Amino acid sequence: MIVSGVAHSYVASDGPVLSGIDLTIRPGEVVALIGRSGSGKSTLLHILAGLIQPSEGAVRIGGTRVTKPSPRWIMMFQAPSLFPWMTVSQNAALGLRYSGQSTGVEDRVADVLSLVALTEFADRNVQDLSGGQQQRVALARSLAPSPEVLLLDEPFSALDMFTRQAMQQDVRAIAKRLGLTLILVTHDVSEAVLMADRAVFLKSGAGIIADDTTVDLADAERELSSTAFKTELGRLNAIYTTMQSS
Ligand SMILES: Nc1ncnc2c1ncn2[C@@H]1O[C@H](COP(=O)(O)OP(=O)(O)OP(=O)(O)O)[C@@H](O)[C@H]1O
Ligand SMILES: [Mg+2]
Repeated sequence: MIVSGVAHSYVASDGPVLSGIDLTIRPGEVVALIGRSGSGKSTLLHILAGLIQPSEGAVRIGGTRVTKPSPRWIMMFQAPSLFPWMTVSQNAALGLRYSGQSTGVEDRVADVLSLVALTEFADRNVQDLSGGQQQRVALARSLAPSPEVLLLDEPFSALDMFTRQAMQQDVRAIAKRLGLTLILVTHDVSEAVLMADRAVFLKSGAGIIADDTTVDLADAERELSSTAFKTELGRLNAIYTTMQSS
């Protein structure tokens, strides 16, 4: 994905919310966008998803200019927005049906439900699942059309600490297994350290990238109790604090 010269102002906003955003994200890279409330994280993610047209600049994914939503670049929101009266399988199939696929739907749904460890819940109504399980259904639905890029806007913030950590580790593992490019918005630095290969810091007020750093951790070190994790968390927290005060 190549983001070049992206700037954005809302009609109702005083000044630009984002300015001069340049980013090159490798296929398969997991990138966290970090910034405090109002720094423009969701705005940038909506631009990457083709849901908002930037005032300036362009986004390209695999050479295609992003001008509208597509099953190739899918955004997953904080609330899972499932249909409660449908089963897990039916919800997971929605993205495929929406993109016009009519053959092989059942097999593909079975694959993605297995990927998110929900096979045994396939025929349950989603209203009978926990919040964490519902997030997994939403993830399965997003993954079913085999997107190249998955965009996540604070998708785990409503989950309890243990469920959240399990989801963070699982989603990273799934992305790596599929070679999926994952871009996640967070204001939780530890989420970025657990999940991302790289952290991009957005500075509020200016709407610029204040820092862009590699999260140098092996998968085995990506857990809260590991020493390497704590060191990396300290380093990123320092960047975050310095950025906000400068
Ligand atoms: N539709 C809109 N019209 C006008 N201004 C908007 C609109 N949406 C967002 N903004 C403004 O743009 C700025 C960035 O908003 P954005 O939602 O991108 O921030 P964020 O980093 O995602 O914040 P949060 O962490 O609270 O979700 C804020 O000042 C917000 O008030
Ligand atoms: Mg937001």
